[in-house]
Formats: sequence, C-alpha cells, structure tokens
Amino acid sequence: MENDFVKPLTVWYNLGHRDLPWRHTRDPYKIWVSEIMLQQTRVEAVRTYYARFLEALPDVRALAACPDVRLLKLWEGLGYYSRVRNMKKAAQIIVSDFDGKFPADAGELRRLPGIGAYTAGAVASIAFGLAEPAVDGNVMRVYARLAADESNILSQKMKRSVTEELRGVLASSFGQPGRPGVYPGDRDAPTETGAFNQALFELGATVCTPKDPQCPDCPVRLWCRAFSEGRTETLPVRLAPEKHREEDRTVLLIEDGGRTAVRRRPDGGLLGGLYEFPNLPGIVGEEDALAYVRRSGYEALRIRKLPEAKHVFSHVTWRMTGYCIMIAPETENGGQNGWIFADRAELKDVYPIPAAFAAYANLLGILVGKKGKERGTDEDSDSRNSML
Ligand code: ADE
Repeated sequence: MENDFVKPLTVWYNLGHRDLPWRHTRDPYKIWVSEIMLQQTRVEAVRTYYARFLEALPDVRALAACPDVRLLKLWEGLGYYSRVRNMKKAAQIIVSDFDGKFPADAGELRRLPGIGAYTAGAVASIAFGLAEPAVDGNVMRVYARLAADESNILSQKMKRSVTEELRGVLASSFGQPGRPGVYPGDRDAPTETGAFNQALFELGATVCTPKDPQCPDCPVRLWCRAFSEGRTETLPVRLAPEKHREEDRTVLLIEDGGRTAVRRRPDGGLLGGLYEFPNLPGIVGEEDALAYVRRSGYEALRIRKLPEAKHVFSHVTWRMTGYCIMIAPETENGGQNGWIFADRAELKDVYPIPAAFAAYANLLGILVGKKGKERGTDEDSDSRNSML
C-alpha cells in the first residue's frame, strides 16, 4: 500500500483529537490498561474505570500483588474477567522476569498472557515508538475504504493481510520495523508511530464511521479509493462470521535417532511461516502413514501410535492423532518434502513451533507456543490446546 496518506492523517490527528486520559502518557502499563479496557467497552465508559483502576493500582508491581477479590471488584461491570486475571499473570511475569519493566518488543509482549497482536502493537507503538501496526475493527474499516478492499472484514485472513500492509506502511514511513521513532524531550509526548496508530483509531471512531461516514471532513479522502469510486456506503464488506469447522489431522513425529523432522508452513495462511511436524489431512492409518514416509524417500523402521489431541483456533478446531515413526538415518536423501531434521535444542531455540502442536512437542520434552501459559477467551488468546 502507498504511504502518501500517512502525513495528512498524522497532521490532522496532531492538530486536534479527543482528549482521552491515556493519550497524556507513554507509560506502557497505563497504555496497556487502557487498551484492554477499550476492548471491553465504549471510550466514555473506560474513562471512569481507567481512573479508578490506576488510582488503586498505579503500576505493574501493584497489579502483580493485588488480591484477586480486589482486582475483580475494580473490573466489576466490564465483563470478561479472564482478561483481568490474565493481566495480573502478565504483571507477575513482568515483575519476575523483566524487573518490573515492560519489554520494548512486540514479540516479547505477545508472549505474555492475554496480549496478542493488537495489544502488543498498540503498546509497542504508543509507549515505545516502535513501527508496529495495531489493527482493530476501526482500523480494518478505514483500511477497507482507503484501499477499496472487498475482502470480508470479519475474516482472520483480512486481519492478517491488513496487519502486513500496515506494517509495510509503518516501515516505509517511520524507519525500519523495531526502530524506536521517539520524539526527543518531553517524556509523555506521543511517539510518531503511536500517533499514526491512534490517528487511525480516531478517524475510524469520528469520521470514517460504519454508517454515514463524514467524507467531507476526512483528511485522507484524496487518497481514499472508496471515496473516489463512490463506494463508501458499500465498503467494507461484512459477510456472516465464518462457521467454526472441525478438521482431522494426523501428526507425525519422524525421528532419526535424536532428531525430529519439521517443515515450514507456507506464508500467508494459518500459522504462516511457522514450523510444524509433518502432518496429513484426515485420520490416517499406520500403513498409509508409513507409505507417506517411504514416498518421501526414507526407510521407516518402527511406528508407534501417539495419543490424540485437540487444538481450538478461532474458526477451526484441529482434532489430531499421531504416530512416532523411526527412520533409518542413512536413507535420508536431503530435504525431501522440505523436511528439516532438528535436534532437541534446535526445536527449543531455533524453530518457532505453534502451540497447536504443543501436545506432540511435549512428548519430546519441549514446551512450545506460549510456553504453557494459560490461555483466556479474549481476542488475544484465540486458541486452546489439550491432550484428549
Ligand atoms: N480504541 C482502541 N485504542 C484506542 C485508543 N488508544 N484511543 C482511542 N480509541 C481506541
């Protein structure tokens, strides 16, 4: 996506926007609190909760030490209590592992309970000035109109593609991803990337509204394809939520004596770019599993059935079964099917393996995904995992 709209958008934002309490700070703790609350309720309602919460728990150490009953009282009426329980867990990790300081890194933030792509991007950009996108519903709508993108705004696929497009826009406008673009001087002055992300929130909330968008007031209408094509009323496209479906898979732990096969998932799709144990669609019998290994150019020596497991994503559940298949090392003829044989240390430290495969990785003594931390029900922890 072109980035010509960035300047007029941020100038518009910097010239005047709603005066919200969390816009006077770059304290990552306060920004995190506001972002989690904003996922629960309207901006006006958040004002009161935010002030009361921060008065009672002014920093991450206070939250980490707060008795549950007091915490739930402060959250009373906001709903989704798992979110605030996750906040306390995250606070305890920040205190124990990071000396009470939020990591200035979106990847590290995402590892914390209850923090997913959106929250990590919001905190990383607003508090630390990192070039990270923060894509919520408002931002999806603004993007769909700017780019006249007809994809379904309710789909995970579009959310991923908008995130990647905006990552590119941020990188080309504010420097390399990960490079802080902080205003010098005033500790609480907004960061450039934080102002950009908040300008998108602001535009979505006040101008580029779902109904009756106020295009004459829009600072980026000249760069807006929906505006120039007269399609602001018909974009974004909003199709019925994708139905939750179930898929069977057979996961193979292919071992050549100390090493296990992994392969890279294709970019763009579900878990794109992450590594997985080779697996087959459907519930496959022993003979078919062995035939698959042989077709890939390896001699299978032994096969053992593994337990069943299940992983719940936001719109698909994988019901998995598995086999451990021992192969003869000398039959390996180099990277067939893109398999890479990795030892335990490499599985732990080199290849990112998503939590969907945790049940099978655990059998190798390896924790993967969110390192076994509990997952909640919020947008940021959209999957659960269990051995059946
Ligand atoms: N919605 C989500 N994050 C927001 C923010 N920081 N300001 C206003 N509205 C928001």
